[in-house]
Amino acid sequence: MPAPRVVRTVKALRNALTPWRKNKRIALVPTMGALHAGHISLVRLARRRADRVVVSIFVNPAQFAPHEDFSRYPRTWKEDLAKLSAEKVDLVFAPGVEDIYPQDFATKVSLEGPALGLETDFRPHFFAGVATVVAKLLIECMPDIAIFGEKDYQQLQVVKRMAADLDLPVKIVGAPIVREKDGLALSSRNVYLSPAERAAAPTLHRVLAEVAASIRKGAPIGPTLDRGRATIKSAGFKLDYLEARHATTLEPVTSGKDGPIRLLVAARIGATRLIDNLAV
Ligand code: PAF
Repeated sequence: MPAPRVVRTVKALRNALTPWRKNKRIALVPTMGALHAGHISLVRLARRRADRVVVSIFVNPAQFAPHEDFSRYPRTWKEDLAKLSAEKVDLVFAPGVEDIYPQDFATKVSLEGPALGLETDFRPHFFAGVATVVAKLLIECMPDIAIFGEKDYQQLQVVKRMAADLDLPVKIVGAPIVREKDGLALSSRNVYLSPAERAAAPTLHRVLAEVAASIRKGAPIGPTLDRGRATIKSAGFKLDYLEARHATTLEPVTSGKDGPIRLLVAARIGATRLIDNLAV
């Protein structure tokens, strides 16, 4: 299988895209590499929705705090390229840090709305880093559509809001979470889990499903979330949050009538932080 063409600079990316712009629909799938079946589902969705598929691979330092896992974040370039070539991806954009953040770089996207709370309470640097790099990638590539996994649900809402607010001429498309058979959401960080942690990890999805079912049956949201929080903690997690939010604004909801509702969870097991979410 021939490897997809790889470009490493914005100039080379734009040159490669120019001939397609005339009559081809272009999809961008932004990733940080360490590709798994979840990413491949994004690539396949891109393929169904566009004529040309571009995948970016860039481990974005701006979305990691100094104490986080930037340096040990899995980097699996060879395997990633083999997977993308099996999917017949048209172009891979893999810039270096200096291409995205030259020395005098001084701009940051500043966010409110869906970026407030949840992840921001625990990773205050995160969405400014994500939104800045995503804005750059969208402007550099100018795709017709860009695909983001619902696994990072708050990220998806933040990116949708940003694209609308900045009038970026791109449709942001969310793709469903891909799960292991036992419910664990696929994540590049799952490789960090020890066997015991891996065994406990599906608790997050199980609790989300139980809480969603109870709320659907009319159970009060507050006490139902409290029970879910207790179950997660008793499975050995350090819970950051388990919340019920409006599915697009991510504002807190107090009753099933405030919906559509999305449940969102983040919790640490050992040294690994996992996130997950589910529609009610
Ligand atoms: O979801 C991710 O992998 C990253 O946050 C993204 C969107 C590629 C930006 O670095």
